[in-house]
Amino acid sequence: MHNGSCTEEIRVWDPLLRLFHWSLVLVFALAWLTGDEWMDLHRLAGYSMAALLFFRLLWGVVGPRHARFADFVRGPSAVKAHLLALLQGRAQHYDGHNPAGGAMVVMLLTVLALVVASGLLADAFGGSELFEALHELLANLALMLVGLHIAGVLLMSVLEGENLVRAMVTGRKRARSCNGRAGS
Ligand code: HEM
Repeated sequence: MHNGSCTEEIRVWDPLLRLFHWSLVLVFALAWLTGDEWMDLHRLAGYSMAALLFFRLLWGVVGPRHARFADFVRGPSAVKAHLLALLQGRAQHYDGHNPAGGAMVVMLLTVLALVVASGLLADAFGGSELFEALHELLANLALMLVGLHIAGVLLMSVLEGENLVRAMVTGRKRARSCNGRAGS
């Protein structure tokens, strides 16, 4: 089937990956809301984020196909080529993360890990001003990336004609054969 009425679906995001994603969203929001004055909850959010990131690292190696880093981490030239193809309206379809999305995942996970690390250091050094400033800077960078991430998800949902947020909830996307395009 190659039309809008296509109902074939494929599983893309496994249950643990989805649980990881929405837990990360909650923990990130909690960390932001408690950062200024509610330090016990803020620390709890930070430790939870560390545990989630640790799980994601592991899952990126031993998880199912589309959760694996090897499935979506590409070099800068592949990311550039994908973005260029996107601008020209000839980008390839990917069931999992496309190369640009993959780069965003790596940046998000890295910056979040640095946010957690700087928070731990600020705590360990008794509220060191240097580490606190670094922690705040990294947290702002993370917020900026999250904004770009959400904008990217919405843009790709429009361009691909598929609700990607729903896919991160149900784990399923329309089968590739429905799109009538090649890809992986
Ligand atoms: C309500 C806001 C958000 C929505 C609607 C959303 C939606 C999504 C969607 C649809 C994907 C899959 C992208 C794809 O199809 O390739 C995704 C992946 C991802 N998102 Fe979000 N996201 C949100 C907030 C966040 C936040 C706050 C973070 C981090 C703090 C985050 C981190 C990630 C990560 C790390 C992935 C990659 C999933 C994986 O492979 O592990 N997202 N998000």
